[in-house]
Amino acid sequence: MSQIGKIYIYQVPFVDNPKKSKPRPVLVISEMNLKGDLEVIAGTSKGVNWSSEEHLVFTPKEIDNCLLNEDTVFPISKKVLVSQSMLKTKVGILNNSALKKILKAVSLRQTKNYYTAIHKPQQEKEFIAGESRVNYAGRVFDETEMRYLIDSSLDFWLTYGEYSKKFEKKLSEYLNVRWTFLVNSGSSANLLAFYALTSPLLKDRQVKRGDEVITVAAGFPTTVAPIVQYGAVPVFVDMELTYFNIDVTQLENARSDKTKAVMIAHTLGNPFNIKAVKEFCDKHNLWLIEDNCDALGSTYDGKPTGTWGDIGTSSFYPPHHMTMGEGGATYTDNPLLQKIMLSMRDWGRDCWCESGVDNTCGKRFSMSFGNLPKGYDHKYVYSHFGFNLKVSDMQAAVGVAQLEKFPSFVQKRKENFSKLYDGLKDIDEFILLQAQPNSDPSWFGFMITLKDGVKFSRNELSEYLEKNNIQTRNLFAGNLLRHPLFDSMTEGVDYKKVGDLINTDKIMNDSFWIGLYPGMGDDAIDYMIGKIREFVGK
Ligand SMILES: Cc1ncc(COP(=O)(O)O)c(C=O)c1O
Repeated sequence: MSQIGKIYIYQVPFVDNPKKSKPRPVLVISEMNLKGDLEVIAGTSKGVNWSSEEHLVFTPKEIDNCLLNEDTVFPISKKVLVSQSMLKTKVGILNNSALKKILKAVSLRQTKNYYTAIHKPQQEKEFIAGESRVNYAGRVFDETEMRYLIDSSLDFWLTYGEYSKKFEKKLSEYLNVRWTFLVNSGSSANLLAFYALTSPLLKDRQVKRGDEVITVAAGFPTTVAPIVQYGAVPVFVDMELTYFNIDVTQLENARSDKTKAVMIAHTLGNPFNIKAVKEFCDKHNLWLIEDNCDALGSTYDGKPTGTWGDIGTSSFYPPHHMTMGEGGATYTDNPLLQKIMLSMRDWGRDCWCESGVDNTCGKRFSMSFGNLPKGYDHKYVYSHFGFNLKVSDMQAAVGVAQLEKFPSFVQKRKENFSKLYDGLKDIDEFILLQAQPNSDPSWFGFMITLKDGVKFSRNELSEYLEKNNIQTRNLFAGNLLRHPLFDSMTEGVDYKKVGDLINTDKIMNDSFWIGLYPGMGDDAIDYMIGKIREFVGK
């Protein structure tokens, strides 16, 4: 039988004088090694002030068969290796919940040590101009992310659980929305958001196959993919070249009596003209999905992006504003859309019980659905053709820690944007991305577009920067319509476009972006500015 959790009396040697010792309760926290030694935590009942040291206090009630009559303090750092032969007097055994607490505390302390020894030095590595790689993005984390992750993995709940619930609640609070659904990627969030609009529960507002959805071609493919996957028709509108978002003057031209929705992203954190798009949607009774994957933390007219439309989506893939490795979310204030998204995220089921919970409705075996026999188990009643897009609770745990630091990430992104802007604004050859009027962007990247007729190409500049260890990115697909995925698509049938998308092509040819993520210091920013100016000859 395992010794772990048993408490013995042991003569603990004094640190300053190993010849002397005192009897102390010690808690066994490991199995025996081959030499017969065990790891123990030395406890004390003395009134030493442990407030500055991580510790747990256990009452005699938490110790089964307890022979101790006082509370016992176990400082987590007081770990020693003792020989099993020295442990003769057993004074109790910690109950399961107390044991869980202390074993967790020991693991989490070790996790912190791991972070401090392995990750922190990497993160604090001095920037050496020209030698250090300037990534366009990256995870920014500390011991808290790792501790929450280990905490969750020790619980071994694995699927949607306590951290997931906490994350959804905290993100809802941050965005000031009623409901958030955690999913396994930004692409899944877009899939869920779009498919929610195809639910028959929406009656005459349901998006049907063949209906049209207004979008843009300059951006990320999975903003558009769900529209095509379902069999609706994307209608591509051009971009404007000041704020690099949808050209709202083209919205009316894009509309037909089949138009049911607008689904677009806020480019690199810069809000699109929400006022114009929202007015257009309201006027024609259209759904608005805001792909907020690159804009978490941005506001428009003081209100967060992603919360203006009917549904907003986020991505938590590592380069994004915050990460959980793989992850995403949808959010809404609309009670019907929340009901649909819950169902579609979780297999299409009608039941809303959480994982591992039964009969939340109290009527599990007494309701009638479709043509099923009355009382058919509600847990297995399906109201949609759904997906399973949930994340593991371990991913959510990382997300909770990231959300705690999130406001500081947004602040740093804004500061880095300003520094880059100030350092490059006088270069005549460039169009720099301007913040949308009335907005306060939480920038994802710093986009540069070459003016027409400039004597060098975007790729020449990108290659120069890459050679100098500065990572660059195009605006994702550039013009999605020019990619092989459109080879089998027929214009006018499978998709439509308004005009020739000239500005979209310009972005494809002449735009690129560099990073400004919160892990980037002033030295990296100055280096980027210097190299860009060097290339341009200024
Ligand atoms: C605007 C936009 N939407 C959606 C996504 C997809 O997110 P994910 O990579 O989490 O699937 C991305 C990814 O970078 C994106 O930039």
